[in-house]
Amino acid sequence: MKYIIGNWKMNMSAGEIVEFTRRVKKYKIPRKRNVQFGFAVPYVYILGMAKIQDYVWIGAQNVSEHDNGAFTGEVSASMLGDVGLDFCIVGHSERRTLFNETDEQVNEKIKKLQQYDVMPLLCIGETEEQYEAGSTKEVLLKQITKALDGIDKTKDIIVAYEPVWAIGTGKTASIETIRETAGFIRAELRKIFGHNDTPILYGGSVNPSNSDAILHNAEVDGALIGGASLDADKFVQIASSLF
Ligand code: 13P
Repeated sequence: MKYIIGNWKMNMSAGEIVEFTRRVKKYKIPRKRNVQFGFAVPYVYILGMAKIQDYVWIGAQNVSEHDNGAFTGEVSASMLGDVGLDFCIVGHSERRTLFNETDEQVNEKIKKLQQYDVMPLLCIGETEEQYEAGSTKEVLLKQITKALDGIDKTKDIIVAYEPVWAIGTGKTASIETIRETAGFIRAELRKIFGHNDTPILYGGSVNPSNSDAILHNAEVDGALIGGASLDADKFVQIASSLF
C-alpha cells in the first residue's frame, strides 16, 4: 500500500475547498486498491468537507492530550473519534517548535487517539543543526522511543519522516538519505512492534518534480505533502506518480 496524504496546515477557505474538490474530481483518479489518499484538514472544515471520493481519508492536524473538560480552544480525541476521522497528525515539527510540544505530550496524544480509534500519524524529524552534526539517527530514535512508549502495539499507526530543514524550504533530502533514514526507522519500529507493517512516509518539499523518485523508493510507503497539496493540479500530478 502507498499513501499520499496532504497536510493543509492553516490554509484553505470553504470556497477554496469546494474548488479543490471539483478540480480533483475532474481528473477521475482511478481507484486503486493499493493507494490510499488522505487530507489533514483544519478543524472547522472537517465536517463540511465533502469526501473527494469515498475512499479518501479525512484527518485532523492536532489533538489535545486531555480528556474532555475545561480546556478552552482544544479539541479532544473523543471528538475526533465521534465525527469518524480516519487519522490525526501528531508531533508535527511546527507543533514541536512553534508550540513547544514535547515528546511526552506526543505520547499522551497517541494514547488518547488510540483510545478513540483514530489512527495516529506520528511525525518525526531532525533540525538542520542536528542533521549537520550527524545526529539524525539519535534524534529520531529518541522521538520514536518516547512517542511510542506504552502505546497499544496492536493498533495501526503511520510514521512520517519529515526533516525539519526540508519543510517548506524547497530543499528535499536526497533519495539516498531518505532511503537510509527510512530503513533505520523501519528497523527501529520492527523492534518495537515485532513486525514490519508500519507505513513510513516522507515529507518535506515533496512536489511533482521529485515525487516519482521519492514514491518509487522501496523504503518509503508514501508522502506527507504540505504546500503542494493545496494545489489540486500539483496534488494530482504527485498522485499520478503511482498510476
Ligand atoms: P511542505 O511539503 O510544504 O514542505 O510541508 C511538508 C509538511 O510539513 C507536511 O506535514
